[in-house]
Amino acid sequence: MSKTFYITTPIYYPSGNLHIGNTYTTVLCDTLKRYKHERGYDAFYLTGMDEHGKKIETVANERGVPPIEHVDALAEATRELWDNLKIDYDDFIRTTEKRHKSVVQKIFERLLEQGDIYLGTYKGYYCMPCESFYTDTQLADNHTCPDCGRETTQLEEESYFLRLSKYQKKLLHYIEAHPDFITPETRKNEVVSFIKQGLNDLSVSRTTFDWGIKVVSNPKHVVYVWIDALSNYISALGYGTDNDKRFQKYWHGDEVLHVVGKDILRFHAIYWPIMLMALDVPITFKLHAHGFYMMKDGKMSKSKGGVIYPETILTHYGLDELRYFLLRELPYGLDGLFTPEAFVERINFDLANDFGNLLNRTIAMINKYFDGEIASPSEPLDDIDQDLRETVTDVIRAYKENMNTLKVSQALQDLWRLVSRTNKYIDETMPWALAKDEAQKPTLEKVLYHLAESLRHIGVMLKPILLNAAPALFNQLGVEDEHTTWQSLSFGEKKHYHVTPKPTPLFPRLDVEVEVKKLRDEIAGKTQVKPLEPKPDTVSIDDFSKMHIVVAEIKTCEPHPDADKLLVITVDVGNQTKQIVAGIAEHYSPDDLPGKRVLVINNLKPVKLRGVKSEGMLLAGSNKERLEVIESHALKPGDRVK
Ligand code: MSP
Repeated sequence: MSKTFYITTPIYYPSGNLHIGNTYTTVLCDTLKRYKHERGYDAFYLTGMDEHGKKIETVANERGVPPIEHVDALAEATRELWDNLKIDYDDFIRTTEKRHKSVVQKIFERLLEQGDIYLGTYKGYYCMPCESFYTDTQLADNHTCPDCGRETTQLEEESYFLRLSKYQKKLLHYIEAHPDFITPETRKNEVVSFIKQGLNDLSVSRTTFDWGIKVVSNPKHVVYVWIDALSNYISALGYGTDNDKRFQKYWHGDEVLHVVGKDILRFHAIYWPIMLMALDVPITFKLHAHGFYMMKDGKMSKSKGGVIYPETILTHYGLDELRYFLLRELPYGLDGLFTPEAFVERINFDLANDFGNLLNRTIAMINKYFDGEIASPSEPLDDIDQDLRETVTDVIRAYKENMNTLKVSQALQDLWRLVSRTNKYIDETMPWALAKDEAQKPTLEKVLYHLAESLRHIGVMLKPILLNAAPALFNQLGVEDEHTTWQSLSFGEKKHYHVTPKPTPLFPRLDVEVEVKKLRDEIAGKTQVKPLEPKPDTVSIDDFSKMHIVVAEIKTCEPHPDADKLLVITVDVGNQTKQIVAGIAEHYSPDDLPGKRVLVINNLKPVKLRGVKSEGMLLAGSNKERLEVIESHALKPGDRVK
């Protein structure tokens, strides 16, 4: 039986578009899941949305939509983003789902019954403009709001509390007894010193807003966000229900990992383990808190340092470029910077020059000197070959060690040590010089074989990271699936290479000046982030053939009596005349159209548009600048389009 690995991201607030900072957490977890999968684990990856709370209620109100409609739309957009980023998650939990709410309600009632939750009074400081409560210690000078700096008012509110104080000692003891519970070490130290200052009981309910999970035994309260949010990690697995197979398998399995940003470390390192202790659920998870992606001028925010969205990078560059940069540039345990210069340099130097070019040169030489086919050498190995092979072995070891300790940036750095070593191997062996002497042909073949094998190893280690380039590398080098696995990592394992006759560059070089300017403009908000087209559902040929599309000749055209954007058109569809209302008045005047032969859907159910009957639909294409009706020139009215 395979070992299990359960990995989670934080669940995201549906408060706006996710930027590359939040995207980092998701990409990091995706990479770790894929890596574990490669290593033979039964891996399960959970992500989702944290959809309750005052802030979300307020945002929805501002948009004039019910909160559920707001969160539905953002959950949909988030899933679409993860799909576009090929995130390989296994479940997507939303805190508004029934399966989650009922578990939270059970947890709350149980803790209440046990006396771990009790009713008290919450004294807080309320900032009207921010609509937020703060405790004494959170306030800025003179009791002002830490966010906007304005004056706050002291308020008292009935609230339930979670008895953190009762578990303080037990938690400290747990952390001390499990030195790798929280990583990096510096974060663990922060947590320990925070606990040592003494834990105040935590307010876990509110009566001042509605958008949350109701406390069953006292429905004027809603569960305050953290008990709700943190429970997602087990509610998604079916904890506390009749169907808790996944909970048994993954929570009680071999490895459980929560990955979070440093800002939410405390909630995960203190509240969550205490909740589990109170519930008598074993703490099986390890917690990793990463740093933040910052912009040159500070935190990533629309008002301060600017924001960069994953869609922008995806549209202008590509998935692997985004993943590589995010994973490479954030050092373990620290913050990292997103700058246009660093981004373009990483693509040009690491991906295009060092890596992409290595593959290109290798394939070109195998074609040029051996018609695309080489075999493992019978030649004796010399020092340079040995050195390359030793680097391969050492990099596999380092990569494994780094991935196992979540140092992905370091793993990539080590992998590029092999990329550089392989490039240097070309300089040292000078295949072009060997090619001049027929007697050196076996040595030349040995050299090219070493290059191909080294690249295959690089490809296997890149599989969880570069989702397009790794398969492309295998494809171009002619590596079959069995030699792309972790088990096949052994120099000489693949005996023959038959490479593609025409290598395609994996990463085109970017024009530094042009791209840096483009990214700067994006960050400054001058250009629009182009949202990705939603992925269309596939349709079967049967679905398509239900549509009766025919050529039609426009006979008359008039403005709609009651709508500026609509035109009322009569068309000859072969054996009859039909009336169509089309939303094209901003692009065509009525005189432009009569005589044109266009395409229409002829079997659309008739509808009335602003009081005028429309019996079909005219086909037009559009982009940002223009809209154009699709015309036919040689066909006759009534001819079918299939
Ligand atoms: N809803 C809570 C989490 C509840 S988990 C039980 C939340 N959501 S969030 O949408 O605000 O943030 C989600 C994650 O994105 C957090 O891990 C946060 O630390 C991370 N990041 C937000 N900005 C970031 C950067 N600039 N850089 C890296 N990670 C960042 O918190």
